[in-house]
Amino acid sequence: MHSFTELTNLFCQQFKEPQFPAEPGGLYEPASYFLGIGGKRIRPVACLMGNELFGDIQEDSWRIARAVELFHNFTLMHDDIMDKASLRRGQTTVHIRNGENTAILSGDVMLVQAYSCLEELSGNYIHWILKLFNQTAREVCEGQQYDMDYESRDKVTLEEYIRMIRLKTSVLLAASLKMGAIVGGATRHNCDRLYGFGKNLGIAFQLQDDYLDCFGDPEKFGKQPGGDILRNKKTCLLIKAGELATAGDIDKLKHLLAVQPANKTEEEQKVAGVLDIYRRTGVDNFTRELIADYAKRAMQHLEEVVVVNSRKQPLQDLADYLLHREY
Ligand code: IPE
Ligand code: IPE
Ligand code: MG
Ligand code: MG
Ligand code: MG
Repeated sequence: MHSFTELTNLFCQQFKEPQFPAEPGGLYEPASYFLGIGGKRIRPVACLMGNELFGDIQEDSWRIARAVELFHNFTLMHDDIMDKASLRRGQTTVHIRNGENTAILSGDVMLVQAYSCLEELSGNYIHWILKLFNQTAREVCEGQQYDMDYESRDKVTLEEYIRMIRLKTSVLLAASLKMGAIVGGATRHNCDRLYGFGKNLGIAFQLQDDYLDCFGDPEKFGKQPGGDILRNKKTCLLIKAGELATAGDIDKLKHLLAVQPANKTEEEQKVAGVLDIYRRTGVDNFTRELIADYAKRAMQHLEEVVVVNSRKQPLQDLADYLLHREY
């Protein structure tokens, strides 16, 4: 059995190999650049862990692991266009570096490359894997659409927000674990419990992402500070501030949301103004508590996976790592 760190190192080693041909460079170089600037690789590692929970890691799990990481990077490249993000993993995003058209097409080819990894699957569960992969991909698109729709909506409930982040983020982590478990020969019960673990952990993970977008150390987080605030993203923090703030602060918040900054200074003013209100209303604490709540639910699902407890250690380490991350 491998530890979380060992699996991460093994995957990173393998994923360092070129994933794309050299030509045409205009298409493949930005894709290689994007894969080369880092990333935690948690989804492929989750897939390998899902397999190893039940038996030796099979070649098919490595293929699925590559596929999910390529798929994830495809979603990020397009997400950065949609979110007008200038920084990812501390580096310039592809649509800024190479232009929007390139970011669209290089993203597309990453998605195709992800499916190519699945072409090579040899087990007779291939139908189930493809079905789950496609279902997940569709859900990620649905979540991303809600995310965009909510930017221009005044009122979004916490339930709607949780549905949105479940779709855009948590189902991919959950499916990565489950696909590994399927390859590992897990029972239906165990596959479902592991999916539940990933789903709740993924929600906690996206809550944490939204928290770090506001309160993280920008140097470590590697994204533009306050990026969600600038896009009027309906995060847990904003939704809860709308509930908990005083009438005066709610007026201020409405005013700040209406501002469309024309330069860096105005951007900084908008972010600082919203952060002040977040701190005053204590939505930072509320978010941390909600993260802990979803983490707890995740662990309950993990407890219900019927396998000797010592085998679950890497998954516990993954959860700890995700909940204490700074980037
Ligand atoms: C970023 O995912 C997108 C979210 C779902 C929050 P990660 O935080 O896993 O990104 P990398 O791959 O490690 O950069
Ligand atoms: C991204 O959510 C989710 C997907 C890419 C599917 P975010 O927009 O919050 O992710 P970051 O903050 O850009 O990594
Ligand atoms: Mg984004
Ligand atoms: Mg986004
Ligand atoms: Mg984010």
